[in-house]
Amino acid sequence: KNIAIIMGGYSSEYKISLISGNVVNQYLDKTKYKGFCVHILPEKWVYVDEAENEFPIDKNDFSVTIDGDKIKFDCVFNAIHGTPGEDGLMQAYLELLGIPQTSCDYYQAALTFNKRDLLSVLKPYGIKSAISYYLNKGDKIDTNEIVQKVGLPCFVKPNKAGSSFGISKVKTEAELPIAIEMAYKEDNEIIIESFLDGTEVSVGVINYKGTITVLPITEIVSENDFFDYEAKYLGKSQEITPARISDEMTEKVGAIAKRAYELLKMKGFSRSEFIIVNDEPIMLEMNTVPGMTNESLLPQQALAAGISLEDLFANAIELALK
Ligand code: DAL
Ligand code: MG
Repeated sequence: KNIAIIMGGYSSEYKISLISGNVVNQYLDKTKYKGFCVHILPEKWVYVDEAENEFPIDKNDFSVTIDGDKIKFDCVFNAIHGTPGEDGLMQAYLELLGIPQTSCDYYQAALTFNKRDLLSVLKPYGIKSAISYYLNKGDKIDTNEIVQKVGLPCFVKPNKAGSSFGISKVKTEAELPIAIEMAYKEDNEIIIESFLDGTEVSVGVINYKGTITVLPITEIVSENDFFDYEAKYLGKSQEITPARISDEMTEKVGAIAKRAYELLKMKGFSRSEFIIVNDEPIMLEMNTVPGMTNESLLPQQALAAGISLEDLFANAIELALK
């Protein structure tokens, strides 16, 4: 079967996505599936072959013509972090075309990519989140009101973005305007959350061979102020799998991540982030197209569970094709 591995995208995360996509392609080589690297970039949608020749994708049916032969894809492996791969746009487009894909459906993607909406949907089910304050571009910025609500320090984040782009930890009220300006570079909505002093953990939940499975949990110990871009990809953090938390807490936080997956009727991959404060997991976000680079957490978690990466990726395709 022909699998288009879509990678790149239109956000700041495009470089990471290209790495994720190439890792997926490398492992698919060891399976029965034939991977095609398809770059989805603002200026072009192209299939890129091993010699780096580029062939345009026909957006009418997501096909590519190579030497006169039209190739249609049986499935799309989604490796685009951020828009348009993680926010539902590609999912909706592919659904209209009737092409199966490995991530969740468009609604779940749009919902989970929006931190504010995700956390408010989960809250009535008892899934806790930090105290937060929201801003939309153009809103009046009342730093005093923000500090009254969330306290200091606090985190200023773009509401819809990934890989920590545009996130700052703010320690004084005077730093807020610059942090807000930085976050607006990534998104026109902002979420400002109170600082949570606790243990950060990352919980992968996937559908593995038909069973919703919680992977071994990773603890994140950042050398930087928080798990920022540098900590994520440039080695400035320690990622410990399994996390050094009690068996009860492993069970508890795993159950919350799994419940969220089930409540939202998720498919494919998910990796949810929490900070455990006084034995209480507080949810930060859920990623539905988690990084698949060699530094990324979900592949490490799968390996810790005894799932090889070729198996992990082939499993996603098999479920999408069902
Ligand atoms: N957004 C990055 C790629 C992640 O969640 O791993
Ligand atoms: Mg994220």
